[in-house]
Amino acid sequence: MSTVLTSTSSELVIRGLGKRYAHAQARSGELQVLHDIDLHVPEGSFVSIVGASGCGKSTLLRLVLGLDTEFEGEILLGGQPIAGTGRERGIVFQDHRLFPWLTVEQNIAVGLRNAPFTPRQKAELVAEHVALVGLRGFERSWPHQISGGMAQRVAIARGLVNRPRVLLLDEPFGALDALTRSRMQNELQRIWQKERITMLLVTHDVEEAVFLGDRVVVMQPSPGRIRRVVDVPLPHPRNRSDPAFIRLRDDVLSDFLDHRAEPAIHSDAGLH
Ligand SMILES: Nc1ncnc2c1ncn2[C@@H]1O[C@H](COP(=O)(O)OP(=O)(O)O)[C@@H](O)[C@H]1O
Ligand SMILES: [Mg+2]
Repeated sequence: MSTVLTSTSSELVIRGLGKRYAHAQARSGELQVLHDIDLHVPEGSFVSIVGASGCGKSTLLRLVLGLDTEFEGEILLGGQPIAGTGRERGIVFQDHRLFPWLTVEQNIAVGLRNAPFTPRQKAELVAEHVALVGLRGFERSWPHQISGGMAQRVAIARGLVNRPRVLLLDEPFGALDALTRSRMQNELQRIWQKERITMLLVTHDVEEAVFLGDRVVVMQPSPGRIRRVVDVPLPHPRNRSDPAFIRLRDDVLSDFLDHRAEPAIHSDAGLH
């Protein structure tokens, strides 16, 4: 969409990833949160990670984002180890984290703070992304004047405005009501199909994971590890009432039936 930045290979490869936190109550003095995670996110693909609360999903995204540089194993983007945070990786969190004293377009422009563009290029990029997320006419609105779904659209635009190679999404719709959530899932699918940016989505909503992902990675806790990887060979855009979709969703859901904390088809069911 944008003419100002071209991206190079955006394949994300994670090998043997492990993470431990210091933990006073653990016998070893450490809590193993992630264990031996191998993950391949091909360029332009959409990979969902689904798992119960506490299985290390946010920790995994923090490591890929580069917020925490202490880990075992490798995280490679386009064949290069990641080094700290960088403009080629964008993120959207569950809480939109908009600045209340900035307008919609100023909040989106925050994503371009350190970008090497002229003010004019930045204004063009912001306008393009306002349109991409369907917020034309709300550029000068304040966060308190817009709905939760619209605030998440702003957060998505802010995450994409730099034209990152990978967009990381940490339960981006977890705080929205069911109707808004399914609308936003459709929107995200449309945006991904248009932009073809590599996307890595973390969720505890099995239906969301299967609806959006080309591949669904099922995690299990203590320590957080990969239980199973399920390919979702259904064409986009997907139909939630398609029997093939329902079969795959129920298949993934069955992975959680022998766990104490069960992720829900919809995240209202109370796993946070
Ligand atoms: N900074 C931290 N220090 C110590 N323990 C942490 C820290 N961050 C997360 N944890 C622990 O790591 C585990 C995984 O957390 P998290 O990655 O947030 O899981 P999820 O996103 O799947 O709910 C939890 O047991 C949590 O308490
Ligand atoms: Mg989390």
